[in-house]
Amino acid sequence: MTPSLTLPSVRGLPFIGNLPKFRWDRLNLYLQVSRECGDIGTFRIASRTVVLLNSAELAHAVLVEQADAFEKPRILRVLTEPVLGNGLLTSDNQFHRRQRKLVAPAFQHRRITTYADVMADYAERIQREWPHGRTIDVAQEMMRLTLWIVGKTLFDVDVLDEAEELGAALETMMRSFNKRLSTLLPVPLHWPTPGNRRLQRAIERLDATIYRIIRERRASDDDRGDLLSILLQTQYEDDGSYMSDRQVHDEAMTLFLAGHETTANALAWSWYLLGQHADIYARMRAEADRVLAGRIPTFEDLAHLPYTLQVLKEAMRLYPPAPVIGRQVARTVTIGDHILPRGTDIVISPYALHRRPDYFPEPERFDPERWTPEAERRLPRHAYLPFSAGPRICIGNHFAMMEAHIILATLAQRVIFELDPRQHIKPEPLITLRPRNGIKLRVLHRADLPA
Ligand code: HEM
Repeated sequence: MTPSLTLPSVRGLPFIGNLPKFRWDRLNLYLQVSRECGDIGTFRIASRTVVLLNSAELAHAVLVEQADAFEKPRILRVLTEPVLGNGLLTSDNQFHRRQRKLVAPAFQHRRITTYADVMADYAERIQREWPHGRTIDVAQEMMRLTLWIVGKTLFDVDVLDEAEELGAALETMMRSFNKRLSTLLPVPLHWPTPGNRRLQRAIERLDATIYRIIRERRASDDDRGDLLSILLQTQYEDDGSYMSDRQVHDEAMTLFLAGHETTANALAWSWYLLGQHADIYARMRAEADRVLAGRIPTFEDLAHLPYTLQVLKEAMRLYPPAPVIGRQVARTVTIGDHILPRGTDIVISPYALHRRPDYFPEPERFDPERWTPEAERRLPRHAYLPFSAGPRICIGNHFAMMEAHIILATLAQRVIFELDPRQHIKPEPLITLRPRNGIKLRVLHRADLPA
């Protein structure tokens, strides 16, 4: 057995360790650890040692097999508390299990298939706003679209008019989170620094929307059968009580944020990759044309659009919207041949895992053929982890896949995106994996092009 202290590690600087690389070039740090250390290795952020696991077996052990020996990292909870409170993403143990059970009905298969029409309809509507020949930032537009969809499907509200402002508040929040994560001595949140004031304003902006939505629904007092009704009206099984306003806020905020930002990034990266691979893009368009013949897709159409799904899966392999999954050891545990003491910080990086050449030969190549059913069956279980696994697997997994699948097919039918190859696109891991300065694409409406 190897105690974690003797795990292989990457070289760092005195005192600060790998902090600079963690701060400025985090994705490459993960790749470096996996290259130099193999399945398990460590890096250091000042005095904090972080263990990176980089194999399907070890990911399975932590996320599934021994999931109860791990918690969400304390630092995640501390840093996101002002915004997400004790919502599903950050809570733990019994409290989390109780909340998850309550929220789960909103994500049952039967329920989410009813969201397909809204998804297709909104995708159809947003592309009509883009003038032919105009350049758009597809990252921003996908964010607007998915925010609009999550608002309508889960909360039955229209937030399109506010999307830009909410997006800006969200970005402020994530930047602040990221900065605090990689700073030696984070300034306490109550100090009135410009950064803290910006963060406070962003939180107030997001809160204003969430509390307004809750207030309006309480006032109308009707059960619309959506997620918000579930949060407001369901009683806990054990004591018959209702969820407090604060808890409704925390869950709603979590779902609002987790429910659009990741999917938007999956879509933005998909369009970016398609813009670089004309043959793959043409094949995906041909599939949409053949199956849909000009119609807006329905849920039933998705089974006949397998290549579009392969494109999406491959885009999420190269650019997993959640590039890192963090855990903290809750009680000393043995993983593989290693003893990990209580309190150890663990990360699994889908970004690095998805680039293991033994799982994905020529890992940097964009190749949707990796996702034919036969090829997918040959892949080790948990070598592909865009949604994590085990009891904390993304609750919106099927919602997100269906949404992105529908949006890709709808837009493939209507527009062609042209990528300006001179752009330098750099992925930035701000909790989610965003393109640092967006992705500019020229929109050509297919109906306006010569046949
Ligand atoms: C492509 C899109 C998405 C990706 C890649 C993604 C990824 C993830 C990942 C990796 C986790 C687990 C983190 C962990 O194990 O620590 C997670 C959790 C979560 N996701 Fe997603 N997500 C996506 C879309 C969505 C959507 C659409 C929703 C809701 C509408 C959602 C809501 C949540 C929630 C509430 C959790 C916490 C679940 C729990 O801990 O019980 N996500 N997501």
